[in-house]
Amino acid sequence: MEQWVEVREGLASIIVPDLSKYVVGNRPEPAHAPVFYNPRMEVNRSLSTAIINGYVSYTSKTGITVCEPLSGTGVRAVRYAKEVNGVSRVIANDISEKAYELIRLNVDRNGLNDVVSVYRDDANNLLLRIAREGGCDVIDIDPFGSPQPFIENSLRAIKDEGLLCVTATDVGVLSGKYPIKCVRRYGALPQKFPYRFEVGIRILISLIARHALSMDYGIQPLISFLDGHYYRVCALILKDRAYALETLKNLGYAYYRPGTLQRGFIPGYPIPTSARYRLAGPLWIGNLWDAEFLMGHFMRNIRDYFSDRAKEISRLIIEESLGPNIPYALTTEISKDLGRELPINDVIGVIKGLGYQAVRSHFHIKGFRTNADLLRVREVIMGK
Ligand SMILES: C[S@@+](CC[C@H](N)C(=O)[O-])C[C@H]1O[C@@H](n2cnc3c(N)ncnc32)[C@H](O)[C@@H]1O
Repeated sequence: MEQWVEVREGLASIIVPDLSKYVVGNRPEPAHAPVFYNPRMEVNRSLSTAIINGYVSYTSKTGITVCEPLSGTGVRAVRYAKEVNGVSRVIANDISEKAYELIRLNVDRNGLNDVVSVYRDDANNLLLRIAREGGCDVIDIDPFGSPQPFIENSLRAIKDEGLLCVTATDVGVLSGKYPIKCVRRYGALPQKFPYRFEVGIRILISLIARHALSMDYGIQPLISFLDGHYYRVCALILKDRAYALETLKNLGYAYYRPGTLQRGFIPGYPIPTSARYRLAGPLWIGNLWDAEFLMGHFMRNIRDYFSDRAKEISRLIIEESLGPNIPYALTTEISKDLGRELPINDVIGVIKGLGYQAVRSHFHIKGFRTNADLLRVREVIMGK
């Protein structure tokens, strides 16, 4: 017998499956519930309301349309309708009959029948229909697993200068646990570099970029992050060949040399300009975020009612966006021979003391981003 409970998330009040009835081991398993709802994704949804609010002010658009083709309970669509300024229409959709009925219920109980249109369709069919009808400003692809099957039609359905947001929960695939699967699914080779979680998100961005290029579009990531089991990328889609050519320059490869701890990017797509090192890619080698967007538009849309985790991730990403576009390093890499591990803040202090940039990385608890020579940093730390 299915059981349902009411939850409040953001400004929405939603009916969701009672997850205490769908436990595997000792943890609730949202995928086993009749309709998918993961309370941990509050962080994703809260940050997304701030990102879309930031996008509205960044582009000065009014009356924007938002499409969520994989809606589950509809919690995200309802939150966008209630919490994003200047939304004229939200399209919520799910292929599952139960999800469709639940979305309608949740839209109705939040008094949003005039704003949210609910459909039961295959996401790709819906996106193609939206493309034919003129497109949407924001498309949010939030699947269980890889967003790959929905990228191409999202690019068709999004308007010029629209915002495409995608979630990928196959972090293991993208970050090198299953390299051949990554090659098949994403057309790129990951590597288990110390910064493999950054390799993963860059491969995900490159997937969007490579699809966009094939249509003569360009992309500009506004924010990208990792939060535990999922990656999230939100990028502007620019439907102009000049931007496609710019985007092409931001594709390349990433390298890592264990002997010297050197890391970085090699431009060149589809063939790298040099192949002296073991490479990961093709992947995105441009900025992972737009610091101006984050500081000027995203930050001021963080709400008091977001969870502490959502606020903490926002703070870390904003701080990290001020660092250099060089893959993050781990404190373990530079304190390997020391016999003890230096705390991250001490490492950052040492590097700053040497006159270089250093910021923490949200990708890893021991991660930091610096433009210093890491062997030099290691020497200084060893001498301490
Ligand atoms: C991870 S859940 C969505 C969670 C939701 N976005 C949220 O924030 O709570 C993915 C949903 O996609 C739906 N789905 C899977 N394949 C689909 C398809 N081809 N077209 C439309 N919906 C699909 C599933 O029924 C499921 O409800």
